[in-house]
Amino acid sequence: MVHLKTSAEVELIRISALLVSQTLAELAKILKPGITSELLNNRAEEFILDNGAVPSFKNYKGYPFATCISINDAVVHGFPNKKEIKEGDLVSIDVGVYKNGFHGDSAYTFGIQPVLEEHKLLMSVTRSSLLLGIEKAHLGNRVGDISCAIQDFAERKHHYGVVRELVGHGLGRSLHEDPQVPNFGKKGTGPKLKEGMVIAIEPMINLGTKDVIYDEDGWTVRTKDAKFSAHYEHTICIKRGKADILSSFVQIIESEIANPFLVDNY
Ligand code: MF3
Ligand code: CO
Repeated sequence: MVHLKTSAEVELIRISALLVSQTLAELAKILKPGITSELLNNRAEEFILDNGAVPSFKNYKGYPFATCISINDAVVHGFPNKKEIKEGDLVSIDVGVYKNGFHGDSAYTFGIQPVLEEHKLLMSVTRSSLLLGIEKAHLGNRVGDISCAIQDFAERKHHYGVVRELVGHGLGRSLHEDPQVPNFGKKGTGPKLKEGMVIAIEPMINLGTKDVIYDEDGWTVRTKDAKFSAHYEHTICIKRGKADILSSFVQIIESEIANPFLVDNY
């Protein structure tokens, strides 16, 4: 069942989504070779709690951490750990927060300098595929129009692998609500987009094939061919004409540009 949000509810979701964005921007300030994903996770959790919110992911279906940090061939749901991040890594960080009764959810992939050109292109195509999906996310369209725009760009145009096992989703009082928002599909199909629908769009794009495997930890999703993967996610609200993007990459990109250890020109 789809829960349409009132404009007051959308404003509460915006507060949560912007806190996620701020958290990601904080992490972008301290990301550098030698830091561990565990430290990033702890900083995120502290920042979220300091801002009067709680991390949405911690204890969600037994997930043990505040964030998902998925490095290189890890696609999503990576466990923060004590391994040092190194030059050339692609670090995907997914954060959710719960505040005022509503969740916000966003993710971003950072590149630790120097990054291979083919990995920069993967990042840029994945981020662009998200923005192209958002362009289709308005009244009069259907979920399949979003899905198709992402797949057309990432798979048909750039020959990357679009992960099939995991999809975007509605969110609000729950982290995962209807509808599902796949990153693959056909134009003009699926549920109609309605004003006040709040959804997270989150393309997970692989440099190689679309196939993924699960780690022994039961959570971490990895590419089967061990090639790198990227993941960007926004929380948005459906409107007439053009989506209202509730999370924001602006502060994240500012941190990225100010941090000499991160790629910013991709
Ligand atoms: N953005 C991801 C999702 O919507 C994060 C969920 S991680 C989990 O599925 F641990 F909470 F499952
Ligand atoms: Co999500």
